Amino acid sequence: MSRLLITNAQIVNEQHITRGDIWIDKGRIEAVGGDLSGRAADTVIDANGRALLPGLIDDQVHFREPGLTHKGDIGSESRAAVAGGITSFMEMPNTNPTTTDHQALEAKRAIAARTAHANYAFYLGATNTNIEAVKSLDPLKVCGVKVFMGASTGDMLVDDPDTLEKIFAEAPVLVATHCEDTPTIVANEARFRERYGDDVPMHCHPEIRSREACLKSSSLAVDLARRHGTRLHVLHLTTADEMSLFSTAPTNQKSITAEVCAHHLFFSDADYPTRGARIKCNPAIKGESDRQALLRAVIEGRIDIIATDHAPHTREEKQNLYFNSPSGLPLVQDALPSLLEHYHQGVLPLPLIVEKTSHAVARLFAIQERGFIREGYWADLVLVDLERPHTVEPGTAFAKCGWSPFEGHRFQSTVDLTIVNGRIVYQDGRFPEPPRGVALTFERT
Ligand code: DOR
Repeated sequence: MSRLLITNAQIVNEQHITRGDIWIDKGRIEAVGGDLSGRAADTVIDANGRALLPGLIDDQVHFREPGLTHKGDIGSESRAAVAGGITSFMEMPNTNPTTTDHQALEAKRAIAARTAHANYAFYLGATNTNIEAVKSLDPLKVCGVKVFMGASTGDMLVDDPDTLEKIFAEAPVLVATHCEDTPTIVANEARFRERYGDDVPMHCHPEIRSREACLKSSSLAVDLARRHGTRLHVLHLTTADEMSLFSTAPTNQKSITAEVCAHHLFFSDADYPTRGARIKCNPAIKGESDRQALLRAVIEGRIDIIATDHAPHTREEKQNLYFNSPSGLPLVQDALPSLLEHYHQGVLPLPLIVEKTSHAVARLFAIQERGFIREGYWADLVLVDLERPHTVEPGTAFAKCGWSPFEGHRFQSTVDLTIVNGRIVYQDGRFPEPPRGVALTFERT
């Protein structure tokens, strides 16, 4: 494995930005900071003042393999991920078959070992009937248990009250929840169907997948976790109302943590008239005041993690009328440039973006030796040009579905280069290495 020297970088790490070099040997960061030009290297990258960040660790993606590979697969979507500076991902269980037993988990790991361009871990999906599989999980191998407390893509709703009690009481790993109250949504769907028939306008999505549905379900999750002392992580929060459920304490002192996704920080309901089904996702993108509240919660520390919820569907599928147009957007490639827009607007400082997309994720999931630019840690890094704008065009998407919800948008920043396990896996639109991602390992007692 080659030795890599990165010179003259603005290193964004652990709340600071410092100028200096980084030397990588055998996949690991061996020296950080200052002038390291004396170190022997096979490849030298002159960062020329560009920002070097720890690679993003995305704790919520849907890569569609097995069974839904016309939308994406682990190889194609992890390739798009490294083009967006994501160096590790945690993948969701609503594939076909669903990842609801140990055999299905092993099958996914085997595929990833052959095809993943980034490092990986997988969630086991809870169902109304698989509590034994949940209880027997190995916390050193599995990132968490995913519980769809609201129905979304796939048939994975867990709504049996006794089963929920058991999962929250007995899961040996972090419980990650999708929170939207399904009975509320079903009632809203009936009302809108009565009014519009099948052709419900897309801007009604946040009224159907409503604020009330979100708050009711996330309040239930928090209540269950408090009663059982569960390690709960609530995924993709979208409303101002839910923010008071979460504390501003440091991530490693909380047993209930929270995630928000890049698109919920970027779009608001004002975007439905132009983007329509291309921003239809669950939970729905809500109002501008919700978006502002989410950004405030990131700054205050109520939100611990920023992820993508990358969930590709084909263009054709998205063209269906409301009820048959699937929810979910491809996001891994554009999430970091979209977050950097908040930096350019003076809303999120760079070290805070790094904290929420990398450090906090590593801490929250107890990931071994990743998520920080530290000597001895794996070299998972992304080099970003903050002053090189690019416009997202149709045809520039690497995800298999071939489109982006950001099409037409001009971002101020561009991902130049991504390093995974000490190798350059993405550089200026090219992928110089075959897939070499490895399984994430966890330090848990
Ligand atoms: O919008 C979404 N799409 N939300 C989810 O929870 C699932 C995802 C998918 O798998 O398509």
